[in-house]
Amino acid sequence: MPHFDLTVIGDCNVDMILTGDDLTPDFGQVEKFLDDARLEIGGSAAITSLQAIRLGLKTQLISAIGDDLFGEWLLSKMEDNGIDVSQVKKTKSQKTGVTICFVKGSDRAMLTYLGAIGKLDHTTIDIDRAIESSHVHLSSYFLNKGLHSGLVGICKALRGKHITVSLDPNWDPMGKWDSGIYDVISNVDFLLANESEVNQLASNVTNFYGQESYSTPRASDIIGNANMLAKLGLCVVVKRAQLGALAAWDPQCVPEGLVLAGADSEQPVVDANWPIPSSREYIDSIGAGDSFDGGFIFGLLHGESIRKSVEIGCFCGTTSTLGPGGTSCQATLDDLRRDLNIRH
Ligand SMILES: Nc1ncnc2c1ncn2[C@@H]1O[C@H](COP(=O)(O)OP(=O)(O)OP(=O)(O)O)[C@@H](O)[C@H]1O
Ligand SMILES: [Mg+2]
Repeated sequence: MPHFDLTVIGDCNVDMILTGDDLTPDFGQVEKFLDDARLEIGGSAAITSLQAIRLGLKTQLISAIGDDLFGEWLLSKMEDNGIDVSQVKKTKSQKTGVTICFVKGSDRAMLTYLGAIGKLDHTTIDIDRAIESSHVHLSSYFLNKGLHSGLVGICKALRGKHITVSLDPNWDPMGKWDSGIYDVISNVDFLLANESEVNQLASNVTNFYGQESYSTPRASDIIGNANMLAKLGLCVVVKRAQLGALAAWDPQCVPEGLVLAGADSEQPVVDANWPIPSSREYIDSIGAGDSFDGGFIFGLLHGESIRKSVEIGCFCGTTSTLGPGGTSCQATLDDLRRDLNIRH
């Protein structure tokens, strides 16, 4: 069986990206015109996989698509890029998921047809394949409902073999912020989430555990909220769009795979940023968080410090905002070597 640097488990769909000044449909058969329409690879897991492969990580994707034209297109695109897609399941009874992204300036709105998204079933995951990797990343927890009841067991099996595990919950469309996620968070090494997601998860962790040691979360105290979640025994990485990202961990419980080089070992919080260069133009931030994840994991797997890994994540996130969609402008290993002085 091949050995992978990274296994990504989660969602894979097409993104239809529509750009224009007036993106509001008018019923009554009114026809309006767009500036641009593009079909791109979408889904958090697929975008993270592509970012990883562009940085030279040997990567496999475990996901579900429909037995249709969009599914075929996704498979061939990912295979062409070198991702191992042998564990991407084609579900005959489902169509491939589609997200229509309306992009206006720096804002966006999405309409999603879920289809096969979330139909990945934990009982069909070949755990021996996942064990053949150095790191496993779980994407879009709340969308992947078919995985929920099996994830704690999968995480325990992986970590028992010293494989590090990260989790990106993304947004909870149901607004519940529970669905068993705290048990999973307690069994992974890294939580990679944006600021709103960390605030939501911190608000609920008090309800979930009802422990007095947890103070009341405040949206303005992002470091406090990240620290609150880090008490579950992992490193919490908070993605903050233009502000870059920070990482917080509990010094009593440093997760495996976390390299606290130099001054980092004294500081349970680090932050980094990579602003858009003045010579380049922001296009959209679709999938920026997923590219961040690929870059951060690259840093971890190469023994970089937590601060450097966050910086690599920011570099990858920011670079992806310089082109439309999640995968049209992802950083390569050459970019990292040139701009971040990475020697791998
Ligand atoms: N507008 C921006 N300008 C500069 N950098 C950005 C911008 N948006 C995102 N980034 C970079 O990308 C990283 C991840 O983006 P973001 O904070 O939007 O994550 P996210 O909300 O998880 O994204 P996603 O929509 O993919 O789930 C940020 O930490 C930052 O480095
Ligand atoms: Mg995200």
